[in-house]
Amino acid sequence: MVASHGEELRDIHQEDGTREIFVDACHVPSYARSARAELQSVAPRMIQSPRLFEDDLLPGIVAIVLLVSLISCHVSGPRTKGPLRNAATTRHIKLGTAASALHLGDPTYTRILGSEFAQLEPENEMKFARVHPERTRYDFRSADALVSLAGAHGMAVRGHTLVWHRQVPPWVSTGNFSPAELSRILQDHVATVMQHYAGRVYAWDVVNEAFHDNGTMRNTVWYDQPGAGYAGMGTRYIEQALRWAHAADPKAKLFYNDHGAEVMNQKSDAIYAMAQDFMQRGVPLDGIGFQAHIDLAYDTPRTLSSFAENLERFANLGLELHITELDIRLHDGSPASLAAQAKLYAEIGKMCVQQPACKVLQTWGFTDRYSWIPRYYPQMGWALLWDAEYRKKPAYFGLLTALEEQSKGF
Ligand code: XIL
Repeated sequence: MVASHGEELRDIHQEDGTREIFVDACHVPSYARSARAELQSVAPRMIQSPRLFEDDLLPGIVAIVLLVSLISCHVSGPRTKGPLRNAATTRHIKLGTAASALHLGDPTYTRILGSEFAQLEPENEMKFARVHPERTRYDFRSADALVSLAGAHGMAVRGHTLVWHRQVPPWVSTGNFSPAELSRILQDHVATVMQHYAGRVYAWDVVNEAFHDNGTMRNTVWYDQPGAGYAGMGTRYIEQALRWAHAADPKAKLFYNDHGAEVMNQKSDAIYAMAQDFMQRGVPLDGIGFQAHIDLAYDTPRTLSSFAENLERFANLGLELHITELDIRLHDGSPASLAAQAKLYAEIGKMCVQQPACKVLQTWGFTDRYSWIPRYYPQMGWALLWDAEYRKKPAYFGLLTALEEQSKGF
């Protein structure tokens, strides 16, 4: 069972095998058109292959959906932006959400995604196992579909994630590579993925979850099992990954992202020490991502002020702060729980508004219909802003009010 996510997580596949792609073609920028061409060029495989892999369905469907949405655009006109996105933009905060290409065939999903959010982060589609399933093969189709959709709606894209111990493909984890080989593999991966998205992905979680909760380095394939050549050297491999990332796309903002480091504790102390060291030595680190997968226990004055204090110390290093994966899981969907959740969403929204370095407030999905929480935290759910039937929850209005009422920077 799962008390907090991380090493204890069970490996659950979310893919349900069915998929369609919906891309709003009201405004299809040139890169979306080239992604479509790229997808169409692989379409013949759908006919040849006796087995339909999920991504093999993409090309034809994307083409059809682009056409249908282009026609519907002419009928309905371009979509306007929703209140939540507008309120956050007014506060100079990018309101983001994780999104999954699996649901792009659900028109309500894409309508809310494209109108209420100013930023999209692929929930799984840019992870190592998904974009780099074999040593000599990269597969960007699902991630490209999300990036195209974001472009069509004027949304920024945040990349997630290049160096992580989870969702690593078997060819890496069981490849018996030497540290020197792993180093080459990782550098090639970072460069290839970042260069593919250069100019389209403005910020990357370069390294994700590299620390244990007690602040020591997590033992991973990239660090010391066997590691990419810097085993026993603390944060040195993180530094190396940031340097590779900077070389691959010098314009991208580079982030270290973690969970359980929102408040002052051993893990956030370790991340702070690393960040301070990197800033002093000119290692290319632009910001810290605070995942914020939380529950109602967070809503105490002590915890919230510890969160604010922690943000402040990182801000004082000159770093940009992103709340990257916010969700507030509940044990039930009772009115009382939903009201308490709304209050806590408002508190977190207020905290970001009041901290000038907090530039992104992003939820990990937006509808309870597709949240990862019930699969990872048994008996829990109801974590997001829209319910499973796409009704706006009290949490939506709580966050909206917080964004509308607070003024930035104090
Ligand atoms: C989760 C996804 O939401 C799930 O669909 C997937 O099965 C596992 O990963 N921290 C992270 C995210 O950085 O990448 C994780 O996303 C949630 C925890």
